[in-house]
Amino acid sequence: MRLDFIAYARLLARTVSLHEDGAEGHSQRMETLVERMVAVLRQTEPLPEDAALWPQAVLVHDFGKLFVPSQILRKPQGLTPYERGLMQQHTVMGREELSRLAGDFRGGAPLAHAFWGVAAKIAGGHHERPDGMGYPLGLKGDAVPLVLRVARTADVYDALTAGRAYREALTSEEAFRVMREEIGGFDDDLLEALAAASEQGLLHAGD
Ligand SMILES: [Fe+2]
Ligand SMILES: [Fe+2]
Repeated sequence: MRLDFIAYARLLARTVSLHEDGAEGHSQRMETLVERMVAVLRQTEPLPEDAALWPQAVLVHDFGKLFVPSQILRKPQGLTPYERGLMQQHTVMGREELSRLAGDFRGGAPLAHAFWGVAAKIAGGHHERPDGMGYPLGLKGDAVPLVLRVARTADVYDALTAGRAYREALTSEEAFRVMREEIGGFDDDLLEALAAASEQGLLHAGD
């Protein structure tokens, strides 16, 4: 089995992080978190067949940010409506580009085709939330598939606990409180799986 696409996904993830804020490690930590969450969830429910691909597919969730000027991505706050619209387009751009890549593997390489296909799905939908308040489509309820809910849960948690140049990192406990009480739109069972995943050791080592 050829798995070179995982190395390729890692390279793309590093490229995105350098363009976004110069801080590497976010996507790699998400990979670890999602891998652990999938393992926890499997203990209680059957997961879709492609769940084995989710951890590495989340590496490129923000691929579309390469199409957004880094001055906008690095702006701490106060985006104009135009800038916010441009920023939110990273979902659409990412999905389009990765879908094209998936298409290139149609036929000869079913695993790579499936991998880039799920990566495209995550790139396009990782900011959707079951209460319909997400973007770009504002999908609601069951229209937001599990893979997208898992990706968003891990994404937000890592963004909060890693901090940014302009924002201090929260403790794990504080991050869960903010997710539940301030941000919202997370499933309880996924927050529980995330809690179990985040307790399994250091994610920030090697940053
Ligand atoms: Fe994103
Ligand atoms: Fe992210």
